[in-house]
Amino acid sequence: MRRPSVKSMFGANEQTRQAGPIGHRILFVTSEIADFVKVGGLGDVSAALPRALARRHDVRVLIPGYREVLDQVQDLEWVATLPAHADIPSCDLARCFTRDGLQIYVLLQQHLYERCGTPYLSPEGDDWHDNDLRFGRLSLAAAEIAGGIDPDWRPQVVHANDWPTALAPAYLAWRGARVPTVFTIHNLAYQGLFNRGSLGRLGIPDAAFHVNGLEFYDRVSFMKAGIFYASHVTTVSQTYAREITRPEAGCGLDGLLRTRCAEGRLSGILNGIDEQWDPRSEPQLYRNFEAGDWTGKKQNAAAVRRRFGLAVSRGPLFAVVSRLVEQKGIDLIIETVDDIISAGGQIVVTGTGERHLERRIEELVERHPGQVGAHIGFDEAEAKNVFAGSDFLLMPSRFEPCGLSQMYAQRYGSLPIAHRVGGLADSIRDGVDGLLFQSASASSFCGALVRAFGLFAEKGRLNRMRRTAMGRTVGWKEACSDYELVYARAVGNG
Ligand code: ADP
Ligand code: GLC
Repeated sequence: MRRPSVKSMFGANEQTRQAGPIGHRILFVTSEIADFVKVGGLGDVSAALPRALARRHDVRVLIPGYREVLDQVQDLEWVATLPAHADIPSCDLARCFTRDGLQIYVLLQQHLYERCGTPYLSPEGDDWHDNDLRFGRLSLAAAEIAGGIDPDWRPQVVHANDWPTALAPAYLAWRGARVPTVFTIHNLAYQGLFNRGSLGRLGIPDAAFHVNGLEFYDRVSFMKAGIFYASHVTTVSQTYAREITRPEAGCGLDGLLRTRCAEGRLSGILNGIDEQWDPRSEPQLYRNFEAGDWTGKKQNAAAVRRRFGLAVSRGPLFAVVSRLVEQKGIDLIIETVDDIISAGGQIVVTGTGERHLERRIEELVERHPGQVGAHIGFDEAEAKNVFAGSDFLLMPSRFEPCGLSQMYAQRYGSLPIAHRVGGLADSIRDGVDGLLFQSASASSFCGALVRAFGLFAEKGRLNRMRRTAMGRTVGWKEACSDYELVYARAVGNG
């Protein structure tokens, strides 16, 4: 396996000197970034938000040195060796720049990170057995950077994301460091739960294994640690911020989240999408088009039909671009497929996920040849073509912290049909730039599908809605201003 060259460099290099702090020095810690490796929306957000913030702040991103990262980065500079802690092995910290100048810290630990599989799962689809150590290592490295291990740079605020980075605020607190931390929940349902044995492995002080700490029903919860120890907690939409303070969506942490909310330490900030996702200029699109060019959109639809083996049709084309997991309401889609086909619609599915859902999708393709097409796998160029070619995107998520696919779909003139929850409720206006339905049941979903068929038959209204959806500005500007307020408050001058 090729390893990058690690140059020993202690002094500040030219780029570091030029980067000088404008606003705050922010360390953004994440387990995925779309530049190198992406499992879902967190990867997109981790690529876009730090770049948007970097216009006014000195931002650096910390990621594990997965194989995909090492295969793609160039000119890694060695920064420091981080010592072992309990069973967490020592590792090297290096840094590099992306082509467009984003500064990245990469954690080099061959044994922990250089594997085939996803950041979280083995190729067989099981959690990596040592995920506590892998992500304990990542979190601890963030705390060490905040503690000053890089002689050239020390953040004023650490921004951790989701459970894999959630021990960062905790390690800082246990070390008595006073660096403020912001912890963003992208999905409360993935908590990073481990048995008691992890306490010793991760060098966690005994006193922290407590209801006022990271203990969760006799287990170690990374997610709870993030919520408990961070100076401020955010999540990715306002509606989800409210939902998680209630038992139905609180995943057992609603009590603590209610406390944070009452203290004014929980906020919802809706994600944006990258402005480069643009059907007018996207180079990977079969045919570029803009609002009003409905012939261009039709040509993309024809290309998608060909690519997915669908028959020529004048009916609506429904799309699913999703991780195939329970959260996304895939079972509701499966339940309504027969109705969609018999009403004259067709469906394309692209995504990967739980094996049993992948298999059920494949069965649908066999049952409805020429009417249902699927690619089990994920390819971003294909996803963009599907957004561009489809008339509607199906997103009957049972819960959805934010959701990005519905916003991409809007940008590409595909109207989302979505359950009115979380970020879907905050980013879709029913009957204006998408369709919302009230409850996660097949009958409620079917009601919205009936409306979609009606809308498809009324081209004037359909095209007006498409135009509105495509014209929405959902960049990162607003979210950045909100995060800036959170950072300013966390560092004590907001
Ligand atoms: P989530 O993060 O819950 O999967 P989002 O809607 O926030 O949902 O983000 C989905 C992002 O991930 C989009 O960029 C989408 O194109 C992409 N995506 C969807 N399915 C997959 C998949 N199976 N593998 C990788 N990326 C995917
Ligand atoms: C999570 C959520 C999704 C959100 C994404 C980015 O994966 O499931 O709703 O859009 O994170 O914040």
